[in-house]
This record gives sequence, C-alpha cells and structure tokens, in this order.
Amino acid sequence: MRFDVFTLFPGIFESPLKESMLKRAIESGLLEVQLHNIRDYAEGRHQVTDDYPYGGGGGMVMKPEPVFAAVEGVLGTGDRGLGIGDQDAGQSAISNRQSTIPIVLLTPQGRLFNQQIALELAQYDRVALICGRYEGFDERIREHLATDEISIGDYVLTGGELAALVVVDAVIRLKPGVLGDPTGASDDSHASGLLEYPHYTRPPEFRGWRAPEILLSGDHAKVDRWRREQALLRTWRRRPELLDRAELSELDRAFLRQLAHE
Ligand code: ADE
Repeated sequence: MRFDVFTLFPGIFESPLKESMLKRAIESGLLEVQLHNIRDYAEGRHQVTDDYPYGGGGGMVMKPEPVFAAVEGVLGTGDRGLGIGDQDAGQSAISNRQSTIPIVLLTPQGRLFNQQIALELAQYDRVALICGRYEGFDERIREHLATDEISIGDYVLTGGELAALVVVDAVIRLKPGVLGDPTGASDDSHASGLLEYPHYTRPPEFRGWRAPEILLSGDHAKVDRWRREQALLRTWRRRPELLDRAELSELDRAFLRQLAHE
C-alpha cells in the first residue's frame, strides 16, 4: 500500500518510519510512503505557502495554489474525478467527490478517526494525506481537492503530520503480513467493537501479584470465555457506549445483565 503525504515538514516522518513495524513493512515492500514537500510546489523566490486570512483575524492560512499544484502534480487530475468535482449535492458532508485515490485532509474538523475508518482506508492500494499547518486551509482545498477529512481526536495539534502518522500506522497494521502474528489485528481493542481483555505473561507471580489461575489452567474453552467476559467488563466500565454497536451473543447479553444487576 502506498501513502503520498503532502507536508511542509517531511522531516517529522523520518524516524517513525525508520523503526519497528513501519520500518519492516517498508523493507518488505508492503508499505511505501512518499513524502512531498508542499513548499517545492510554491511559486516565487520565497516559495510562500501561507497568507493572511481575508476578513482579518489572527493566524495564517495555507494558500491553495501550492497544495493543489503538489497534489495534482503527483496524482494527476484524471483519475480523481476532478472536473465533475463540484457536484457536491447528495454526497456526504465530508467526502464530496468520488476518487480512486482518497485525498484525505488531516484536520480537527474532520470525521473522528476510528478502527472502522482505518479498515475503510485499508481497502485502498493508495491513499493521499494532506497535512495542514498554520491556522488552517483555504476552504477551496477542502471543497475542491480533498475527498475526505479526518481528525484523530478532539484536540488541536500544531499540524496534521502526527495525525497522518497515526493514520498510516493504524491502517498499515491491518494489511496481511504487516504484523508478525496473523491474528494480531483481529483481537485488538475495537476490532470486535469491544476493548481488549487483559494480558499476562511470565512470571506467574510478580511482587506477590498472581496472574489469573484460569490463564495457567490450559483449558482453552474456559480461557476464551474468561477473555470474552473481561473484554465485556472492561468495555462496560470504561466505554459503555461501545456496547450499543458491538456484536453480542446471548451469553454476552446475559453476562452484561448480571453486571448491571450487581
Ligand atoms: N491537525 C491539527 N489537529 C488535528 C487533529 N486533531 N486531527 C487531525 N489533524 C489535525
């Protein structure tokens, strides 16, 4: 899978892509990250990429020309459906155009990133990520270039770069072969709609704290049921709203009724 990242600070991506799983995914050819410096596409001697907001107010705004030039220079204009681009009506509030390569703007105003969106993006072979800086983007980038907008949480970062790294990491680990353990991503917190059950490893006792005996018992059916109940308990305590959308068996529901009763 290939990510084209448009940024004013490509250096931010260097070390995260040179460590651990992302490094291995790149080495094995499962991941390719092409960094494109938006400044290289800015005109004039000073290659200016931001400007004062029309109407006044504080902060600077990312200019449209270098961002359009960078994205169109790399992706071309043909297969992104540009030109039919302004048929906004009837499309979702965020994705206003069709594209074979999603062009994702990282912004605190985007749809809130989650495992479902990671799975959605993992269906593509190629995704473009545009990282904002300054106070924001000229609105025409949002309206006429991006096909999606993603926020990684309800807080404001200094730019979209760290958010883009979060997206790359969460998406690429879903691709077969990226994780060492082929079942790795299926038990994750959120993969099943629940938080993950607790894990223990050796030693069986550490500073007087014992690992649950059931995990040492070798009874796989009991271990599976214990894990399921722990996942339900943890989700019920920490993120009860997730239970509304999780896939639950009759046994799960009975366990939750018992919890509520207690
Ligand atoms: N840029 C600044 N804050 C952000 C956020 N929370 N998510 C994505 N991009 C951002």
